[in-house]
Amino acid sequence: MPPYAFFNGKFVPLSEAKIGIMTHAFNYGTACFEGIRGNWDEELGQMYLFRVSDHYRRLLESCRVLQIEIPHTIDELLGLTVELVQRCGYREDTYVRPLAYKSSEQVGVRLHNLESSFLLFAVPFGPYLDITKGAKCCVSSWRRIDDSMIPPRAKINGLYVNSALAKTEAFEKGFDEAILLTHDGHVSEGSGENIFLVIDGQLVTPSSSDNILIGITRDTVITLAQQELGIETIERSIDRGELYTAEECFLTGTAAHITPVIEIDHRKVGRGEVGEITKKLQALYFDAILGKNKKYLDWCTPAYKLVKA
Ligand SMILES: Cc1ncc(COP(=O)(O)O)c(C=O)c1O
Repeated sequence: MPPYAFFNGKFVPLSEAKIGIMTHAFNYGTACFEGIRGNWDEELGQMYLFRVSDHYRRLLESCRVLQIEIPHTIDELLGLTVELVQRCGYREDTYVRPLAYKSSEQVGVRLHNLESSFLLFAVPFGPYLDITKGAKCCVSSWRRIDDSMIPPRAKINGLYVNSALAKTEAFEKGFDEAILLTHDGHVSEGSGENIFLVIDGQLVTPSSSDNILIGITRDTVITLAQQELGIETIERSIDRGELYTAEECFLTGTAAHITPVIEIDHRKVGRGEVGEITKKLQALYFDAILGKNKKYLDWCTPAYKLVKA
């Protein structure tokens, strides 16, 4: 099956979904997007799309920031996503990319008086970082964009230049991922992940006022930790020094799942191996995203209709 895209209101082969070079979003970054994972269960022959409605809720919030209007409800967007995956027919882990953008082919920096469009495509997508051995991170020399510049709680395309600068700097220095600080020096997040520390057996994560994207995986971890392990998460500002003294550290994101961090700035996190709480959360998380924990089945949308033998 050729990959498909939903583009200009209909499903077309991905190779036919093209935008013009004058498209506003391409020139000025005036778009917002989501990343939704389809998690493949080989045994069942099923793909579970994870927390699709929550991703679309966040997309519509990002759209409000950018004054982008898309003519679909959350339920319609969910239906389009399932149909796209069915048309593509992937039988492996998949990443679905919804994108809402200023589609007018016009020169001029602004948000007003521009057409909006919505598109959707999906690609096979395996692990993003090493979730087994863990990642080695550095604190980036780049600071996280402040809400007074571009609101990071909105997943705005142009904002990702900040992430790209940090990610490539980390890569070129031999690290797996960057941790960005806020302008006043507090821990914000990874280039494409939220961050958690374990301090005195409790989970600590930057609060929403520290210029983070309010991650859906972050919320998943907070819920699982509370419901299944009885561990509360403290949302507060985190000092850089706490990165070096925490017992455990991990990153969360749709792409990164739960990625343990074993080293930061050449200092071992804990004993320099995947921590016990991190391991427990990983196990709970992978059960949840593969529909294996009935309590969290509402988070999973099966993409395929299975015919029972
Ligand atoms: C900058 C940033 N922070 C955090 C996240 C994690 O968010 P989520 O768990 O919703 O994927 C992402 C990924 O989307 C991201 O790009």
